[in-house]
Amino acid sequence: MKVISTIKELQSTLKNLHQSPVGFVPTMGALHKGHLSLVNAATSQCPLVVVSIYVNPTQFNNKEDLRKYPRPLKKDLSLLGKVLRNNDIVFTPDDKEMYPAEDKRIFRFGNLDNIMEALHRPGHFNGVTQIVSRFFEIIRPDLAFFGQKDFQQVAVIKELVRQNRYKVKIAVNPIIREPDGLAMSSRNALLEPSVRKNAPVIHKAIYTASVMLEGKDIPEIRDYVRKTIEKKAGFSVEYFEIVDDKKLVPVSSKKQMKKGNSYYGCIAVRAGKIRLIDNIEFQLV
Ligand code: PAF
Repeated sequence: MKVISTIKELQSTLKNLHQSPVGFVPTMGALHKGHLSLVNAATSQCPLVVVSIYVNPTQFNNKEDLRKYPRPLKKDLSLLGKVLRNNDIVFTPDDKEMYPAEDKRIFRFGNLDNIMEALHRPGHFNGVTQIVSRFFEIIRPDLAFFGQKDFQQVAVIKELVRQNRYKVKIAVNPIIREPDGLAMSSRNALLEPSVRKNAPVIHKAIYTASVMLEGKDIPEIRDYVRKTIEKKAGFSVEYFEIVDDKKLVPVSSKKQMKKGNSYYGCIAVRAGKIRLIDNIEFQLV
């Protein structure tokens, strides 16, 4: 694989290689099996794959979170060396390269701006779309790979593609979990041991909640999720919403759910000092 850190070299390499479809996997590094599953999906479908490693400052609404974000570049490159091929590219730009001037663009995504992550991390998706649109315009990929764990991010990116008529297909890969059920995340490495031990409660609670849907209605289910998780010391639920998978409109009663439509229970939890998100499908039977 080639490691490239400037836009100029990246674009001239892509031009010379002249292969298609080009697959793109955007990451912020601190790679885990979830990222590697995206890279494997990309290499299985695309003769040329670009993986970016860039901790994008504009999507952090908390300076401390940005400062603490893990950056194990050497380890990441060694992991990618095992799954990428000779002509694939790892793009590792710095802030000057990605933001030569302040990016003042404001993106609007309707309902997606008014729920869940958007409410709790103001400006986060604007930053995500600033950087992802930059990448799409620089790399011009045919396919871009994202993880289902960032459920709302996927919806925002699809809307970004629709609004800007980018010619990229968004591929979504399932959540990869630790053996105890915790969704893999670069932030898991920052959990204190006692918090890490209790963190599987998040997946357990939302899984049980998805089964409860058969006999119970949503207020009771939401209550169950919050109480179960908050029993663990240092855990507090920021939100738990059941939303449709298209417009992400929350439902507050089973009566609002339509058979055949797809719904997801999405959660954000403060686990000690770290914020974790997860989601699971809710099926009306
Ligand atoms: O999901 C992430 O890791 C980031 O939001 C992304 C898509 C790489 C943009 O910085």
